[in-house]
Amino acid sequence: MSDPEAKSARPVWLVGMMGCGKSTVGPLLARRLGRDFVDADAWIEARAGRSVRQIFEGEGEPAFRALESAAIDVLAGGAGVVALGGGAIAQAGAAERLARLGTVVYLRASPDALLARVGRADGRPLLAGLDSAARRARLAEMLEARRSAYETAAIVVDTDGQPPEAVAERIEQALGGST
Ligand code: S3P
Repeated sequence: MSDPEAKSARPVWLVGMMGCGKSTVGPLLARRLGRDFVDADAWIEARAGRSVRQIFEGEGEPAFRALESAAIDVLAGGAGVVALGGGAIAQAGAAERLARLGTVVYLRASPDALLARVGRADGRPLLAGLDSAARRARLAEMLEARRSAYETAAIVVDTDGQPPEAVAERIEQALGGST
C-alpha cells in the first residue's frame, strides 16, 4: 500500500453494468494506485466453491445477493480496488453503504458497448439463453432500472470507445481530488 494518507485507506468500488470493463480497468487502476485488485465475483466464487452461475441456478438470486453483501462487509476492511458485480449497488441500501465505506466509481457504457463486451455471456446467469437482440434489450432494461443507483457514484467515467488504460488514468486523476 503506497497511499500515505489514512483517509485514502478505504476501498475504491468500481461499479457499472456487466461488460462495462470493471475487471479490465480494475487491475490497471490498482497498479497505478499501488493497491490490490479484488474481483468481488471471483472472491465470492473462491469462498463458496461454486461459480456465480451455479449459485444463481442452485440457490437463486437472493442467495447470491446475500453472499455479495457479506463480501462487501469483508472487502470494506481493506483498501483495494474492488470490481463489484453489476447488481451490487442496485440492492436496497447498497449505494449509501458503499459510499460510506469507500469511494464509488461508475464506469458508464452504452447498451451497444455493453453488448459487444459481454459476448455470448455464458457465465452470466442474467443473460443466459438469450440471443444477441434479447441480450441487448435485457442490458438496456437493466441499465435503465439501475441508472439512478449507478449515478450516485462520486466519480463517473464514460468508457465507450476508450482504451482501458485511458479509463484507469482518468479515474486516477479524479481520485486525486476525491479520496
Ligand atoms: C450481475 C453481474 C455479474 C454477477 C452476476 C449478477 C448483475 O457481475 O455479479 O451475474 O446483476 O448485473 P459482472 O458485472 O462482473 O458481470
